Amino acid sequence: MTKIFAHRGSSGTHPENTLAAFREAIRLGVDGIELDIQLTKDGELVVIHDYTLDRTTDGTGKLLDYTLEELKTFDAGIKFSPEFTGETIPTFREVLSLFQNTDIKLNVEIKKPVKEETGIEEKMIQQLEEFNYINRSIISSFNHESLQKVVSINNNLECAILYMKKFANPWEYAAEIGAKALHTYRPETDSKMVAEAQHRGFPVRVFTINKEEDMTRFFEIKIAAIFTDYPEKAMKLLKET
Ligand code: G3P
Ligand code: CA
Repeated sequence: MTKIFAHRGSSGTHPENTLAAFREAIRLGVDGIELDIQLTKDGELVVIHDYTLDRTTDGTGKLLDYTLEELKTFDAGIKFSPEFTGETIPTFREVLSLFQNTDIKLNVEIKKPVKEETGIEEKMIQQLEEFNYINRSIISSFNHESLQKVVSINNNLECAILYMKKFANPWEYAAEIGAKALHTYRPETDSKMVAEAQHRGFPVRVFTINKEEDMTRFFEIKIAAIFTDYPEKAMKLLKET
């Protein structure tokens, strides 16, 4: 049966990538959550999607210009709704800690816009090891060199290539870089590719599926998982399918 992953937490109803959105995903009993990680100016791992603060917080400018202490002064809930005033940008550790007494899968997306070494992969793996999360984590990135680095450090982690444009035999490319799954963009994800990939042992997980008609279509072709901002809606629909 298709697994439901709450994209940036339950981000359709709660501010994305906040503890409130992850708590809601736990309350719903999702199969997995997706979150985005980046480094602060002082090298701490935090959970946020954009490279700038403006869209999701009351701060402005580049994330990388702030230390963790400075970032914690910004509100990450109020722009979504005043009801969530007081939410902050969580550290990766805070999120890992929240999931400790659950068996929910964690898809950690590494946001790394640069080619240079930043140490983000080592820090992420160290914290996953600390929490004993290696076997319940899936690491994805649009930066495939970053995934290769992850594989070279700990080959027990399941890595998944993220990509936007369709290309032939993506499982072959994934295997070359040591990835074991494909995380694919909805408009480029067709049933033939899903069947071929999954037949070869490469689960396909598709993003970001918010419309019921798309959910139903992917449930019918037995895709491994969908990422959705509306996990409650998806779980209800899946039960009825
Ligand atoms: O991991 C799936 C999806 O989150 C990738 O795109 O931009 O939402 O991080 P984005
Ligand atoms: Ca993401």
